[in-house]
Amino acid sequence: MRKIIINGGRPLKGKVTVSGAKNSVVALIPAIILADGVVTLDGVPSISDVDSLVDIMETMGATVRRDGETLEIDPRGVQDMPMPFGKINSLRASYYFYGSLLGRFGQAIVGLPGGCDLGPRPIDLHLKAFEAMGASTTYEGSNMHLVAENKELHGAHIYMDTVSVGATINTLLAAVKATGRTVIENAAREPEIIDVATLLNNMGARIRGAGTDIITIDGVTSLHGTRHQVIPDRIEAGTYIALAAAVGEGIQIDNVLYEHLESYLAKLEEMGVRMTVSEDSVFVEKQTELKAVSVKTAPYPGFATDLQQPITPLLLTAKGTGRIMDTIYEKRIGHVAELAKMGADISTRSNYIAYQGPNQLVGAAVKATDLRAGAAMVIAGLMASGQTEITNVEFILRGYSDIIEKLVNLGADIQLIEE
Ligand code: UD1
Repeated sequence: MRKIIINGGRPLKGKVTVSGAKNSVVALIPAIILADGVVTLDGVPSISDVDSLVDIMETMGATVRRDGETLEIDPRGVQDMPMPFGKINSLRASYYFYGSLLGRFGQAIVGLPGGCDLGPRPIDLHLKAFEAMGASTTYEGSNMHLVAENKELHGAHIYMDTVSVGATINTLLAAVKATGRTVIENAAREPEIIDVATLLNNMGARIRGAGTDIITIDGVTSLHGTRHQVIPDRIEAGTYIALAAAVGEGIQIDNVLYEHLESYLAKLEEMGVRMTVSEDSVFVEKQTELKAVSVKTAPYPGFATDLQQPITPLLLTAKGTGRIMDTIYEKRIGHVAELAKMGADISTRSNYIAYQGPNQLVGAAVKATDLRAGAAMVIAGLMASGQTEITNVEFILRGYSDIIEKLVNLGADIQLIEE
């Protein structure tokens, strides 16, 4: 079993560079299946979700070369074969193979997606879109069977009942090679969607409107290879900014697109966080007294649900009371009980989290209940006096590239140990 051990209370300073976006790359890799040539991705984070996706691509017959942050994939050998189990079940994003395999072969048998337990995570909107494009979708055992009539999807007019990142991207993947025009209304507007559309367009697809709530896709018959730079991870950036405000004595976070973090940075300003935002970096000063604020998550460009847990330890340093309400994943509250074990005045109510500060946390044995809760525990451990031991660290390593090295470089006393 692997654990993270942190001796808290160290002054952290220096520079940290944000890696490529996890939520982009987990869609970009399956998207490559649609190309008839080699696609090279630059800025690929070193996270275990990427290792799993590479493994799945190789199992299907793709040729993959990885060199540092560069990933070169030749998908021409990918076979039309069932992908029932193994790594597929460990990843939420494995649902992107539904769209890309359907787009390439007109059919797919894929295991059900895994990922973090944030309460119910339905995929009805993904299936509704595939059905509108002429595919049948049936569960058989623990597999999803998707079959397009005559193995060919057709364009469709699709209205998303809920704004969904996954369903929007999956519809793009299925639609780029479908015959005719597909229109997605009430599409999600996250930067990762623009990133996927940019890759697909550079492969020869005809997608317009990515980043707005209406996306139009005109199907093409083939897509070719290309080279693509993955956008910076705005959630990793937000995590390091929160950490810098909570325990930093002057930390510069590089490779940040502040346009992707506007609502988050506005919330930090409301707390009184002193920072300098530049074109591609954010410098966070040592903070004195911060003000408690309330946070409510919303689809992009609102406050990201993925940053709700990482900002919580910072909120606990502030003076006053506040509420955290996650309107996307109401059950994303695994960090609350763990922070309470460290002495935080925080608790869950009917549909929100209530906290009161300021708090001086004390090191404890805690667990990462999911990926972003894990990030919260790391920040809390750095803030606390004494030693914090975090278990279930696999979650953290799924999404934070080189987290131990990056924190050691800032002066943290943190280690990943194997027991
Ligand atoms: C993605 C991100 C995840 C982030 C989430 C919301 C990836 C790999 N993961 O997850 O980190 O927390 O966006 O920003 O990119 N919903 C339905 N039916 C569906 C699909 C979704 O009801 O078919 C609901 C969900 O329960 C949720 C909301 O829509 O309440 C948004 O979910 P969605 O944007 O789809 O999340 P994911 O794409 O799974």
